[in-house]
Amino acid sequence: MARRLTVFGTGYLGTTHAVCLAELGYEVLGLDIDPVRVAALAAGRLPFFEPGLEDLLRAGLDRGRLRFTTSYEEAAAFADTHFVCVGTPQRGDGYAADLSQLHACIDTLAPLLHSPCLVVGKCTVPVGTAEQISERLSQLSPAGSGAELAWNPEFLREGYAVRDTLHPDRIVAGTRSPRASALLREIYARPLADGTPFLVTDFATAELVKVAANAFLATKISFINAMAEVCEATGADVTMLSEALSHDDRIGGRYLGPGLGFGGGCLPKDIRAFMARADELGVDQALSFLREVDAINMRRRARMVDLARELAGGSFEGRVVGVLGAAFKPNSDDIRDSPALDVAQTIHGLGARVTVYDPAAVPNARRAHPELEYATSALDAARDAHILLLLTEWPEFADADPEVLGKAVAERNMVDGRGALDPERWRAASWHYRALGRP
Ligand code: UDX
Repeated sequence: MARRLTVFGTGYLGTTHAVCLAELGYEVLGLDIDPVRVAALAAGRLPFFEPGLEDLLRAGLDRGRLRFTTSYEEAAAFADTHFVCVGTPQRGDGYAADLSQLHACIDTLAPLLHSPCLVVGKCTVPVGTAEQISERLSQLSPAGSGAELAWNPEFLREGYAVRDTLHPDRIVAGTRSPRASALLREIYARPLADGTPFLVTDFATAELVKVAANAFLATKISFINAMAEVCEATGADVTMLSEALSHDDRIGGRYLGPGLGFGGGCLPKDIRAFMARADELGVDQALSFLREVDAINMRRRARMVDLARELAGGSFEGRVVGVLGAAFKPNSDDIRDSPALDVAQTIHGLGARVTVYDPAAVPNARRAHPELEYATSALDAARDAHILLLLTEWPEFADADPEVLGKAVAERNMVDGRGALDPERWRAASWHYRALGRP
């Protein structure tokens, strides 16, 4: 009989993890406290956009390897290995992470754990959290210290969630016993057989690997965007600069893409939570550069608004602005901390009529920003616009025909916030083309 596993929390991480564990051949029970979400998943409907995941969800359900529930009792009795994938968003009152979902999950699950088991934390948490959770688990569980904790951070990117989960770059296992490490090795046998490195660490290191990785990626993006500011002051081209840097193997080109900067449910909140934790630990100076990383990132949004205003003739009053992109990145319908929507909303606030189109994120954007107008195609968003802004680099925007869009707009003004378009092609079609960090 296949090994049984549970997954607590069916957000982005939990759903992907549950589906991929079923794909690896396990019998998986996913739990969420939201009955609407559980019903959707059980019916084979993914509550968010992620290429390839819905097919695997249905395959898991059809094979009878995957089920969903709202019952902690059922989940606790179902398996002796439990993955915890609940959300750890930014707190409403500051930079720190909100751990209320994690604490609620452990406090509900632990008293139901009557025999030895492994609880595996996967969510992103401030360093030191696993230590506390481990103590709480053995205090509250009838199995006592038999209810063991491991910390196994997840590095998946939205848009590549399935690939990143089934073929990860590395598996990090923060464990306190050979038994826990061996169990995780067994569960991940397939990726390990493909050569994925398996690193056994203490809890604190495992927690830190995740936030350090995201801090590094955010720093790399802000580095190139800082160079974009210098390029803007000197007439240099940041796109060429980035490409030239990327040929140095020591630097590499990934996460060196200049533009409107990073958003999403992870990078912004993770660097802020990391700074907040460093403050508590008395090592705030060590991470003070992350304030700068955050500030550079936010300045790109302001610069985008300024460039658009310049093209609008100094004011947005009475101007029509078409916005291409609402998701925080292409291949996603996620609008959490989306640079694109932030810019759209600011320009609307400055008096423009703003119409947004995104291939996947319009329903989410409309819910969060009913004050904006929405279009059903790029062409529709361009209609009668005095300025068009490219804010999320979906391939269909990069491939758009400047002549076709040119016939729809009132004036041929384009601000490319993602360096996604070929300036010569757009200028040849009589567009006034401007881009962040480019002459
Ligand atoms: C990120 C991490 O990559 C992942 O390992 C972690 O588990 C969760 O956080 P994700 O939020 O899905 O994943 O987004 P990612 O693809 O990393 O992009 C983050 C943001 O950076 C996006 O807004 C993207 O547009 C921006 N970005 C990325 C750039 O501005 N330039 C780049 O070169 C790369």
